[in-house]
Amino acid sequence: MVENTNALSLTGKRILLGVSGGVAAYKAAELARLMTQEGCVVQTVMTESASRFVGPVTFQSLTGQPVFTELWEANAANNMAHIHLSRNADMILIAPASADVIAKLAGGLANDLLTTLCLARDCPLMIAPAMNRQMWQNPATQRNVDCLQRDGVQILGPASGEQACGEVGLGRMLEAAELLAIVKEKLYAGLLRGKNVLITAGPTYEAIDVVRGITNISSGKMGYAIAQAALDEDAKVTLITGPTCLKPPAVKRLINVLSAKEMMSAVIEAIDKMDIFISVAAVADYRAAAVNQKKLKKTDQKLVLELVPNPDILQHVTRLPKPPFCVGFAAEADNLEENAALKRQKKKLPLLVANWVQEAMGSDETTLVLFDDTGKHILEKASKHFQAKQLIKHIAFLYGQQRDN
Ligand code: C5P
Repeated sequence: MVENTNALSLTGKRILLGVSGGVAAYKAAELARLMTQEGCVVQTVMTESASRFVGPVTFQSLTGQPVFTELWEANAANNMAHIHLSRNADMILIAPASADVIAKLAGGLANDLLTTLCLARDCPLMIAPAMNRQMWQNPATQRNVDCLQRDGVQILGPASGEQACGEVGLGRMLEAAELLAIVKEKLYAGLLRGKNVLITAGPTYEAIDVVRGITNISSGKMGYAIAQAALDEDAKVTLITGPTCLKPPAVKRLINVLSAKEMMSAVIEAIDKMDIFISVAAVADYRAAAVNQKKLKKTDQKLVLELVPNPDILQHVTRLPKPPFCVGFAAEADNLEENAALKRQKKKLPLLVANWVQEAMGSDETTLVLFDDTGKHILEKASKHFQAKQLIKHIAFLYGQQRDN
């Protein structure tokens, strides 16, 4: 969900604006102006009765684009104006949508240019109904609206208020600015659209025997929040997670592992197609040299456990011939800055995210300190969800820069 649509841009987007017959057509002229001002290419298609309310020349002047009204345009390639116009569009928005056009769409009719375009589209269709309150409430209209909704058409409004006919009730078209905000939200392209992002999260569990093991208090909250934030920016997320009690976000691929070695194998198997690797997991540095295949018996004697180092997963990835953009995490107990800078250098990371182990592990809030080529950036203490959003924006920015160089 996008909270502030003002910041979103429509530059380069192509919107097919369908205008059907209704007095609200004058509001569509304002909408066409606003969308054009936002950098969007607005292609207007009017029904015959729409042009009785507002002339095509108005839309042509406001959008700088020719306006289409006829199914049989003489200039269209092979007389296939309908296919051509809807193939180019990112979205079709019909505003106002009359009861008549709604009925035609619900029935799959295609007896004018606008309805033909809608039937031949492969882009989302949104409609902003506008009509007298009784026409709106009529069971036939409600049936048609229901049917369109089930077909995946998004219905915007209508609002309630004073109507052109003097009556008061539901049926007013939403205002142009409201429609613009909805269009922006719908067409918003996330910062990581289509990018493959691999995230490791949570602790690992290193078995000592069949029932006992070594682990740490990592909750997985930071890694899961980052996975959600990457999803919100339209990334294709693979999440490799150690044992946690959390409900995982709806990622493209979820891989559950226990030990560092299992996490390593899963990363190696997934890494090939990845654009970005974010290593958030608190991987155990050591594991038992040998795992007892039976439960160890309790005795009065001292028990010495031999530990061997685990493979460093992140280092393995950064040393690949063509590594993805790698982000490391460092939970530090002291000398945060020096340790983090050293770790970044040692693991050759474009970005290292450090936090205080006492503050971060298991909690809902954390301070993050980001180290990259430009220096240090502090994200003051906030919820892990908020920090994850900030971090993903920073990663997307650095990743974009790296790719452009
Ligand atoms: O050197 P240190 O273990 O503190 O580095 C932490 C970073 O390295 C984290 O991003 C963590 O996910 C990653 N790591 C790893 N494999 C290990 C240990 C740490 O990928 N065995």
